[in-house]
Amino acid sequence: MTAPLQGIKVIDMTQVQSGPSCTQMLAWLGAEVIKIERVGTGDPTRDELLDIEGLDGLYFLQLNCNKRSIELNAKTPEGKEILTKLIEGADMFVENLHPGAADELGFSWEEVHKMNPRCIYGTIKGFNDDSPYANVKAFEPVAQCAGGAASTTGWWDGEYNVPTQSGAALGDSNTGMHLVIGLLAALLQREKTGEGCFVQQSMQDAVLNLCRIKLRDQLILEHTGVLKHLPEYPNGKFGNTVPRAGNVEGGQVLGWCYKCKGWETDPNAYVYIVLQNEAKAFAEACTALGKPEWATDPKFNTPAARNLVKEEIYKGVEEYTITKDKNEIVDVLGKAGVPCGPVLSMYEIARDESLRKCGTIVEVDQPKRGKFLTIGCPPKLSTFTPEVKAAPLLGADTNAVLKELGYSDADIAKFRADHVVCK
Ligand SMILES: CC(C)(COP(=O)(O)OP(=O)(O)OC[C@H]1O[C@@H](n2cnc3c(N)ncnc32)[C@H](O)[C@@H]1OP(=O)(O)O)[C@@H](O)C(=O)NCCC(=O)NCCS
Repeated sequence: MTAPLQGIKVIDMTQVQSGPSCTQMLAWLGAEVIKIERVGTGDPTRDELLDIEGLDGLYFLQLNCNKRSIELNAKTPEGKEILTKLIEGADMFVENLHPGAADELGFSWEEVHKMNPRCIYGTIKGFNDDSPYANVKAFEPVAQCAGGAASTTGWWDGEYNVPTQSGAALGDSNTGMHLVIGLLAALLQREKTGEGCFVQQSMQDAVLNLCRIKLRDQLILEHTGVLKHLPEYPNGKFGNTVPRAGNVEGGQVLGWCYKCKGWETDPNAYVYIVLQNEAKAFAEACTALGKPEWATDPKFNTPAARNLVKEEIYKGVEEYTITKDKNEIVDVLGKAGVPCGPVLSMYEIARDESLRKCGTIVEVDQPKRGKFLTIGCPPKLSTFTPEVKAAPLLGADTNAVLKELGYSDADIAKFRADHVVCK
């Protein structure tokens, strides 16, 4: 099986999560990814939230599999020379340093384009160049807040009516995946033009792209004054912006997260159930939920009627779910054609045999540490299955990469002595 990106070389000056998630995906798809790390310390996540003192943190391991690592001080003239040589032989250069840092180092898009016109330049920043926050540094929650996710996530009333961030890395890994799309498109374009281009992905845009339906809701609210699919309808009040939606389904179908047996002690004993609008699907769900009378009762038997009695429906469905195990519910309702899913905890996901079988959860053998669990390559290609390999130890490939660039043992020894590469 030939890897889709076999023969593509990526110089990876990314760190933490957003950029590394992008370059890890490129590595899984077969690119050779050379990670440029700061001498002595490397990517800050190597040293974050350590579970075993003295070993690279899991945060680093889960985002840097299948890469090579060189320690290189890009602030020294020799370091700049080495980085320039690497870029001259590369298909992509990717960075997510703070705004202005790459330019300051002498590796702006313009400079890199001069060094190698075929090289595609990928960059992640918190915000676009035209943003008033263009020069602001950004981490995950900053992007979730500025991208519209936090204002629309959480509970719509009570003391927990506060902007809330998702557990999913909408600001970081999501931005990385958006950049992958841009880079792959740039690669296809280069096939036609022979020239690389600049691909810029802001974290704010990547989050906002996933909040498209919230902008839809804003427009509906401004046109009609209400959002019929939200809990406030028909009895509550709407303001001038989209409120937090709790656990409602994003479209106009009735979806909710219900308590199941054991909820008093297990915070994840919940199931999500969607009641479809179509009469046949609704009738089947009613039968499965032990409420066959709903299918013919005018109070419940049209989507518009149901929308006026959401609370009553939620209560009725929970009478069914609260006495049963979440997996048993999904088994029964799934067979009856009802869209539903269990709330799975990370404990359960880490032990899920089916996720391991399809290569989504994988065990990787890491030098020094032994096995660790990670999430593999989500897209499954019929022609290629990525092998998730260990993440590199800091500077593990420094010598090999320098030799490939034509440096002699004496050159490398001098670089070491001068702290241009590893100490
Ligand atoms: C993540 C972020 C907030 C961290 O900011 P930071 O603490 O200033 O760290 P940075 O790595 O960007 O920069 C630190 C310095 O290391 C330098 N550096 C990085 N790699 C280097 C190398 N190999 N050799 C020499 N210097 C290096 C940078 O040039 C910078 O120097 P400067 O401060 O003199 O300009 C910032 O990089 C950022 O906003 N990035 C863009 C958005 C993003 O991707 N955020 C999400 C991260 S998950």
